[in-house]
Amino acid sequence: MSDNATKKKIDIFDTTLRDGEQSPGASMNQEEKLEIAKQLAQLNVDVIEAGFPVSSQGDFDSVYAIAEQVQGPTICALARALEKDIEAAAKALAPAQRKRIHTFIATSPIHMEFKLKMNPEQVLEKAAAMIKYARKLVDEVEFSAEDACRSEKDFLFRIIETAIDAGASIINIPDTVGYTTPEEFGALIADIKKNVPNISKAKISVHCHNDLGLAVANSLAAVKNGAEQVECTINGIGERAGNASLEEIVMILKTRSEFGYYTDVATPQIIRSSKLVSSITGIMVQPNKAIVGSNAFAHESGIHQDGMLKNKKTYEIIDLGDIGLKSTQLPLGPRSGKHAIKSRLEQLGFKTIEGDDLQKIYERFIRLADKKKRVDDRDLISLATDLSITMKDSQNTFNLLHVQVTCGTSGLPTASICLQDQRDKTNILKGAALGTGPVDAACKCIRELTKANCTLTEFSIKAVTEGIDSLGEVTIRIMDNDSGQLFTGHSAKTDILVASAHAYVDAVNKYFAKKGDLKFNPQTSNEAEEEKAVI
Ligand code: KIV
Ligand code: ZN
Repeated sequence: MSDNATKKKIDIFDTTLRDGEQSPGASMNQEEKLEIAKQLAQLNVDVIEAGFPVSSQGDFDSVYAIAEQVQGPTICALARALEKDIEAAAKALAPAQRKRIHTFIATSPIHMEFKLKMNPEQVLEKAAAMIKYARKLVDEVEFSAEDACRSEKDFLFRIIETAIDAGASIINIPDTVGYTTPEEFGALIADIKKNVPNISKAKISVHCHNDLGLAVANSLAAVKNGAEQVECTINGIGERAGNASLEEIVMILKTRSEFGYYTDVATPQIIRSSKLVSSITGIMVQPNKAIVGSNAFAHESGIHQDGMLKNKKTYEIIDLGDIGLKSTQLPLGPRSGKHAIKSRLEQLGFKTIEGDDLQKIYERFIRLADKKKRVDDRDLISLATDLSITMKDSQNTFNLLHVQVTCGTSGLPTASICLQDQRDKTNILKGAALGTGPVDAACKCIRELTKANCTLTEFSIKAVTEGIDSLGEVTIRIMDNDSGQLFTGHSAKTDILVASAHAYVDAVNKYFAKKGDLKFNPQTSNEAEEEKAVI
């Protein structure tokens, strides 16, 4: 009998691409969302909330592309309780094998009075009508009572009962403002089970925000009181202080299996997923973040190190292999073979790297091993992630040939850059620029040479490992001054100034790729453009 046979399955509903994208600075383009959605399918989440199709053409297209290309999880789209939102969601989900519309309306007195300007009876009626409408378009409808934790309980019970009668099979209880506490939230879920007569016809889901740092604890309390689905995001990103973190929820249920729950998440894909999301969004994970932070398994004190040497379990409650991180130092060096790198990448969750991609990582690995004293799994993950999220050389408009920067306490920071135009390889662009610092000078020079009409909106840099010889990962975001669209560039190198120039060129290449790719999409609803929807 499997270990899980006596346990209760908890569905993992990932909303990295919807609520996660609402984190300040986290907006992603279609290719980036698709890359993350494919990784979420590898992670084996049950549901991917792919976006909010009515909110913009870009969101509509991203949900459509994910519905078309990502198999395995149910693909879900968000819609307010409005016909046009629900229609856009249904259209965007059309190609998905398994689809769900997630419709919501606020139920707290403050939201109903000030935001919706509706009375409770109107809210009740609207919810029922829109759930019925959504059920005509798709088989599975989730209903959320927005701001449930500040709603009057009797009204909440009534609207849940009405929603289930109207055809919702998943009832989500969001703590929209991150206000509740574990005891209170657990009791709310227990009360819903006790007081909603038809609750057995639906699954209870929870969606907790982290304003008081309790999102994961609240979600766990809900599970212990009968919730069967948890909504969460990779690295806990999301609106304001974020959402419950997927990796924490999943690893709590796995590590404390005596609680009697399990998920279907492929936990060895956790580190890879975390890395991909932070590299794409540029939102770095704090070093002491549980499960995925760089210090989460670092043992600093002598007493702890001594204990670890005697028995790992003295101070480590999670087997690193379970989250896709091997604890051992890579027994690889400048003379290691390609096969050894491939097999290590597979152990780290990168199962599909072959051919030219493998050759490229191999060459970069060997160059790195020549420069750096110790190369470990984190370096290899960084190189592989970099390869998966930067543009392929063959698709580039520009390649960076040389970068030279001068800076210091006297004189002006100066960069000289040499680029090759891939549309006409004889066209070599050379230039120099001054800047407020060396990175600014390099970016300015690249912008002037390529004539990209864009503005740098974000720059972040992170050391992959400890030590002065660490790889530096740079994420750069630029905004197209015409369309407002954002493009993210990435690079990982031991020289952070060179990495910055490469990351900027990567972002500029994505910008030019989009400029040449403004296709008409016949699936797109005109209504999606009518109004910018805000949650
Ligand atoms: O936090 C919230 O209430 C939401 C809903 C749309 C589910 O994100
Ligand atoms: Zn939310």
